[in-house]
Amino acid sequence: MSGNETGWVRASAVDDLPSEGAKLFRHLDKRIALFRTPQGVFAADNRCPHQGYALVQGDIKEGVLTCAWHNWKFELATGACTFGGENMRTYPVEIRAGEVWLDVTDPAAEEITPHLFASLLEAIGEVDIGRMGRDTMRLQRVGVPLSEVVREGIRYGAPRAEYGWNHSLATLTDCMGLASLLEGSLQTLPVLQGLSVVSETEVRRPFRPRPEPIDPVAIYGSIEAGLRAYPRLVDEERVEDAEALLRGLIAVGAAPADIRHALLVAITDHFLSYGHALIYCMKAFELLEQIGWHEADTVLGPLAPHQTLSTRYDRLPYMARFLRTWRAADLDLADLLRRPQTAAFDEASFARALLDESPENTFAALRRALEAGVPVMRIIDATTRAASERFGRFDIDIDVDDTNEWGWLDVTHTLTYVNALRWAWSVDPSPEVLRGLFHAVWFVQWCQQLDARTAATSPAPFVTSDAGALPDAVRRRDPDAAVAIARGYNGPMDALDAALAQIATEDEHTSPIMIAHSVKVSRAAIGEVKAMGTGEREPIAAAARFLASPKRQRFVFNATLEAVAFVQGRARGDLT
Ligand code: FES
Repeated sequence: MSGNETGWVRASAVDDLPSEGAKLFRHLDKRIALFRTPQGVFAADNRCPHQGYALVQGDIKEGVLTCAWHNWKFELATGACTFGGENMRTYPVEIRAGEVWLDVTDPAAEEITPHLFASLLEAIGEVDIGRMGRDTMRLQRVGVPLSEVVREGIRYGAPRAEYGWNHSLATLTDCMGLASLLEGSLQTLPVLQGLSVVSETEVRRPFRPRPEPIDPVAIYGSIEAGLRAYPRLVDEERVEDAEALLRGLIAVGAAPADIRHALLVAITDHFLSYGHALIYCMKAFELLEQIGWHEADTVLGPLAPHQTLSTRYDRLPYMARFLRTWRAADLDLADLLRRPQTAAFDEASFARALLDESPENTFAALRRALEAGVPVMRIIDATTRAASERFGRFDIDIDVDDTNEWGWLDVTHTLTYVNALRWAWSVDPSPEVLRGLFHAVWFVQWCQQLDARTAATSPAPFVTSDAGALPDAVRRRDPDAAVAIARGYNGPMDALDAALAQIATEDEHTSPIMIAHSVKVSRAAIGEVKAMGTGEREPIAAAARFLASPKRQRFVFNATLEAVAFVQGRARGDLT
């Protein structure tokens, strides 16, 4: 039986308690420590709120209980913690005719929930992962859905995120999605991982100043004109104006689909932030589906500064060849979309162009497919397969070469970007979103330079119905085995998804950015397989290879190399 038992129960005869000592009392699922002191008898939850060791083994001095394990201290009468991080629960005690009676009534859910949320918020603000976990479990126990726990994390992180949406908010959103693939209390694992990333990223940051919403009708003449103005403001890098308008559009009740379209137009005007702008937009809308549109101002508002301040990758030299071809072609995308999308698809030559050929050929392959009338979703499927193949070809040794600025994280964006593009196309099949598909295919092609020079033999499927073999291979850091298992697994897909969700949120990595990518890639892979059909395994195999690869979290070492080069006047790329 779990909580909510009510009333007074007899716990012990006073004389059975050691004088100035303690005794354990068991009642249903409760373990209660009874303490006899000169000031009277006291009762508290036997589990120390720090790490759960038995308080019955603690020491008492002048009404203060000290836990034997790590010295946290609590006032016996109130449970207040005087050294440590959390109060202990106490129970009302009455002595009736030499017997100790306890009131074991659990507080009503409505009474305790606000305290638990306040405690959770405090724990997030102190990066106290243990307490975050306990409060999350306590909230679940009183019937609070995990989506509300996630909402609390977003409410903490979103206003603090310095330049708007970032990895921490995206990770928490993804973690909520991964939690839904798990069962029972294991669902807490991804949520806790997501909360810890938000907490570690945003801790002690001040609130980001936000511009007040403007009235789009007063300023632009109509909601429609305001929606059209948003991408322009992003393009002109007018950070405050863009956010004020976005908040204003939400405040006046512009339709969510119209707001989403305005955001997508702004995003695909350029290849913003290496694809992150599109990925974050998807996550933001996914999050709102879970926690409700009434949080739109909190959730969508921070997209504006991220989009406005994002690097325009189409202005970087390494996209130039592709963009020259794009500009010269001057495609009428709206016209392309008016054609019936029913044609058969030569996927092999499309894939060859993306995987082995030039930016120009990649552009031409996509153009040919669209002009022939291949359904856009089939092209997206093929791009996902090519991105998965890119994962398979990635030269793992690059990741241990500190003089190379590229690595696994770059390759991962091919799959996560195309996954976001699939979402965008499914909700908004417009010419502007189609523009993003050109960025996707270029990206898969461009990562060719990170392929291993000598092609390794691709691991053959290892037939098994044991989904647990996949996380085992990841824990052993055996990428070939992980890929082989993902390919050969023949049990229920739900179990494989759950296995991937679990291993992606275990502590295989420690830095928030690595956790963010593990989570993001796994979520995208699961989503891609669901969209393409369960016979498809390559996105899962790709994620498995990424998760299992030994990776160097080389941020401090790399920063040191860069700093040395900087003071010596050497440019990036000359790090030795
Ligand atoms: S378990 Fe009590 S102080 Fe650590």
